[in-house]
Amino acid sequence: MHLLIPAAGSGKRMGAAVNKLLLPLLGQPILAWTLQAADRASSIEWIGILSQPGDWPAIKQILAAMDLSTPVQLLQGGATRQESVCKGVEYLYGWGTVERVLIHDGARCLATPELFDRCSAALQQVDGLIAGIPVKDTIKVTETGPNGIQIQSTPERSRLWAAQTPQGFRLSLLWQAHQEALAQGWQVTDDAALFEKLGWPVYIVEGEETNLKLTTPLDVLLAAQILQQRFNPAR
Ligand code: C5P
Repeated sequence: MHLLIPAAGSGKRMGAAVNKLLLPLLGQPILAWTLQAADRASSIEWIGILSQPGDWPAIKQILAAMDLSTPVQLLQGGATRQESVCKGVEYLYGWGTVERVLIHDGARCLATPELFDRCSAALQQVDGLIAGIPVKDTIKVTETGPNGIQIQSTPERSRLWAAQTPQGFRLSLLWQAHQEALAQGWQVTDDAALFEKLGWPVYIVEGEETNLKLTTPLDVLLAAQILQQRFNPAR
C-alpha cells in the first residue's frame, strides 16, 4: 500500500514558530513517531511526505537518523491540507500503476502499525474508508447570531463518529474527486468529504481512541503520556 502523509502545515494553533511536526516529543520529532509507526506496518510499501521545501533539510535530518526500511519521498505540499493531498494524489496518479492509497496526517503520530494494516486490508474490499471512533460527547449544531452562539439541534449520538486518519481510497476515484473539488471550489477538511459530496460510499474502520491529532500543547502532553505508557508500561 502507498501512503501519503500531509505534513505541510504550520505551528500556528500549537503556538509554535515552526511546523508543529518538527517539535520534539519524548526525544524525537512528532513526525518521526508517525513515520516509525507507518514503517512498522507490514502493509505499507512506500511513503510520500507532503511538506514545505523550507522544512526539507529538517525532515531529511529526521530520516537520516531513523534508518527506515520503507522508501520515503519528499513531495511539495500546498497552502491547505486539501491542496497538499491533491498534489500527492496527482503525483501518484501520474505513475499509472498505483491502485489504492492511504492518507494519514503527520499530526496523528500515535496511530499504531496495526491500524495502518487494518485500513490497508479493509481497502482491498471497498473504494473509500476512514478510521473513526464513536463520539462520546453529546454534539450540538449551532448558529452564531447577535445574542451569541445558539443551539439549533442535537444529532442522535449513536450515529456520530469522529473522523480520524488513515483514510483510504481507490486512487483514480480520489484523483477524480480532487479534480471535481478544484472545478467546483469545494473546500473540505478531509478527503472522505469529497467522496460524500459526490455521493460515493465511504466506510468506517474502527480507529483508535489514542489516535489523537496533535493540535494544541495539551495534545502534546497527552501524547507523551500515552507513548510513555505504551513503550515503558512499568514506569
Ligand atoms: O492543521 P491540522 O493539524 O488540522 O492539519 C492536518 C494535517 O495536514 C497535518 O499533518 C498538517 O501538517 C497537514 N497540512 C498539510 N498542508 C497544509 C496544512 C496542513 O499537509 N497546508
